[in-house]
Amino acid sequence: MPRVISMEGDLMESSTIETNELTKDFINKRGIIRRESRTTRALDQVKLQIKEHEIFGLIGESGSGKTTLGLALLKLMDVDSGQIIFNGNNIMKYTGRQLFGFREKTQMIFQDPYSSLNPVISVYKSIVTPLRVFHKELKEEEVLNKAIETIEMVGLTPAEQFLNKFPNQLSGGQRQRIGIARAVINNPDFIIADEPVSMLDVSLRADILNILLDLKRKFGKSMMFISHDIAVTQYVSDRIAVMHLGQLVEVAKSDRIINNPMHPYTKSLIDSIPVPDPKKKWNLDESKGQISEYVNEGKNECSYANKCPFVMDNCRKERPKFREVEKDHLVACYLYE
Ligand SMILES: Nc1ncnc2c1ncn2[C@@H]1O[C@H](COP(=O)(O)OP(=O)(O)OP(=O)(O)O)[C@@H](O)[C@H]1O
Ligand code: SF4
Ligand SMILES: [Mg+2]
Repeated sequence: MPRVISMEGDLMESSTIETNELTKDFINKRGIIRRESRTTRALDQVKLQIKEHEIFGLIGESGSGKTTLGLALLKLMDVDSGQIIFNGNNIMKYTGRQLFGFREKTQMIFQDPYSSLNPVISVYKSIVTPLRVFHKELKEEEVLNKAIETIEMVGLTPAEQFLNKFPNQLSGGQRQRIGIARAVINNPDFIIADEPVSMLDVSLRADILNILLDLKRKFGKSMMFISHDIAVTQYVSDRIAVMHLGQLVEVAKSDRIINNPMHPYTKSLIDSIPVPDPKKKWNLDESKGQISEYVNEGKNECSYANKCPFVMDNCRKERPKFREVEKDHLVACYLYE
């Protein structure tokens, strides 16, 4: 009989960040005079745990809530309810000094290396901004040395040649490396990388992914890696969570998600990965990055009920809870009760 995962059980493991029942609604006004409104539940009771030194992948179609979850975890967006625990502390009410301390320990790497760097600020100024904000005690020479060390760490050498460049003098891959350098210069405990390679040429992606893996191996960073691309996510992640319309539906070690997907939605995602087999057709309708025609309006039901070939009465009466179907493999689906 699968085991329902208890909060107490989860807390026994050491984690960098965890959430409990995180929920976020967007109310969108509609119609010419904007009297009608529609609720989109972007996060629906999200419960997860990202362990120390772990890269935690997050996949799901466009609009499933991945970026909203990333912004919520870093307190860059308010949520309506739920909890976020960071390094053992509930950060929901953090303001002032506590929030400042939290900002020092967390960073984000953005999807678009073109717009994430200010075009009129040099690489040096851009990279050292977090140091200047959080470590005012550092002397100019120490700041310079740290900048050089960090630029080299992300594979740009000789570092001195990049210090006075501006973003328009860099290639896409170089800009993303600078984005990563800025995110890690302050030695954060937790980094969120939101689609960090999706705007880069395929030939550059492996280099950026390897930098992220190095950061984890050498410096033990915890990371959330958000992507549409399942193969890329598998390459970097220890575990992968699958999100559908605001609900997490499956979490397991990367190879188990790929080789033994259990939730019907995860199965459809994995089936959509193109394989080098001329007999197998890739169904473009199920391609990564598709946008669902449905939204989660906040009903207490399985978010996949409208599309699931196995839907049952129960699925629309109450959303399924996570169950541990095999070791460390959690699935939220009535097929596994
Ligand atoms: N500021 C906002 N105002 C209204 N609705 C929003 C806002 N931000 C996100 N949403 C809605 O919340 C849902 C989740 O959006 P989100 O951007 O988190 O998805 P995503 O999984 O990151 O998608 P993508 O893969 O395209 O980046 C979507 O339905 C989106 O339209
Ligand atoms: S809970 Fe029901 S609707 Fe949801 S995925 Fe499972 S069988 Fe399908
Ligand atoms: Mg997004």
